[in-house]
Amino acid sequence: MWSGSKDKALRERAAEVIPNGMYGHMSTVLMPEDYPQFFTRAEGTRIWDADGNCYIDYMCAYGPNLLGYGRSEVMDAVRKQQAKSDTTPGPAPVMVELAEAMVAMISHADWAMFCKNGSDATMMALMIARAYRGKRKVLVAKNAYHGAMPWNTPRPAGTLPEDRAHVITFDYNDTDSLADAVREAGDDLAGIFAAPFRHDTFADQSLPDAEYARTARKLCDERDALLIVDDVRAGLRVTRDCSWETVGVRPDLSAWGKVLGNGQPISSLVGNDRARKAAGEIFVTGSFWFSAVPMAAALATLKIVNSTDYLERMQDIGDTFRAGLCAQANDYGFALRHTGPSTLPMVLFEEDPDLRVGYGFCREAMQRGVYFSPYHNMFINAAMTEQDIAETLEATGAAFEAIKRSRNSLKPSAALAALMGG
Ligand SMILES: Cc1ncc(COP(=O)(O)O)c(C=O)c1O
Repeated sequence: MWSGSKDKALRERAAEVIPNGMYGHMSTVLMPEDYPQFFTRAEGTRIWDADGNCYIDYMCAYGPNLLGYGRSEVMDAVRKQQAKSDTTPGPAPVMVELAEAMVAMISHADWAMFCKNGSDATMMALMIARAYRGKRKVLVAKNAYHGAMPWNTPRPAGTLPEDRAHVITFDYNDTDSLADAVREAGDDLAGIFAAPFRHDTFADQSLPDAEYARTARKLCDERDALLIVDDVRAGLRVTRDCSWETVGVRPDLSAWGKVLGNGQPISSLVGNDRARKAAGEIFVTGSFWFSAVPMAAALATLKIVNSTDYLERMQDIGDTFRAGLCAQANDYGFALRHTGPSTLPMVLFEEDPDLRVGYGFCREAMQRGVYFSPYHNMFINAAMTEQDIAETLEATGAAFEAIKRSRNSLKPSAALAALMGG
């Protein structure tokens, strides 16, 4: 029987010593009622909360878990490097090996730099684009998330209009809107940020239109500006290369993070020779950016990526999950929109404008051992098996049954309503 008393006690203590009890994307304030905030263990496809409840995890730490928590080859590499060195006055040789591996794997890449978070990598991309020809304007698709720095954090508190004075937005997949934004930038265009596909929160996902991607490339070439693909979230779940290889368009820069070390803290910006000089001009660094252990983890992760069928298995599992969930929804009289690549699925209910049905469904699934998000795209990992999907569908069947019964009494999330209203 599910229980959340230890998590509740931890939240109460946290509220005393952590602003709002938690912050950032891991705060459960927007999650359905009773979602656990704290986790004590993770292994393979499973996570355990502070009360000992076990879940099949469809959020994968919001992306980093690509191969299964605690994947043995990665953890062996971590232990081996830890026994030698980690954070020292200079990087370990593994940094060169990892840069070589990134350049070998990513078609448009001639060089690589490493940092900690996706936001570091997108910030470097912004700075390199501006340093490239001394231009200021950067174009970003409306509602696309590229990190939590003052120039792009989704909530304005603590930032100034000046922080994004030179950011111009356009509609994703809309070539006319993109061309208008380029016109607005005039002769001051530094670069265009492209999401690999549209993966905004609270919305259906859409794959990139090849014509739109080619237009972005052409506009950058005409204006001598840099094209940037932000693969921080989608990287290595779409292809073993930059995600825009799927539409035949090569950017100048691509940002990576999350999956690179299968959970160890490392991110990267890679670029082509056109951007090399500007990359060498900006000053960016961090106390832990050169630590060797996450680099060893990333090298071990990339070895698995390049030598196994992890991606094809993840795609098969994702397809099985998608087909099973949609059929089940249909059987229970619900219509789902299950959008985006099946390895990063977004699941929303039809006729559910305030998401109360989705919230009710996720809460019922959570209490039966399946951890979903009602408003963020989810993540499949390569450790997932047919058995995991069968167990998931058993729980979701019962969850559909429960919300069918309680449909008329489901309430909208107050926190979500406050966010949307404000
Ligand atoms: C597309 C994208 N870019 C950048 C980021 C920022 O990455 P991080 O949270 O590691 O700073 C994220 C994080 O979710 C992301 O999804």
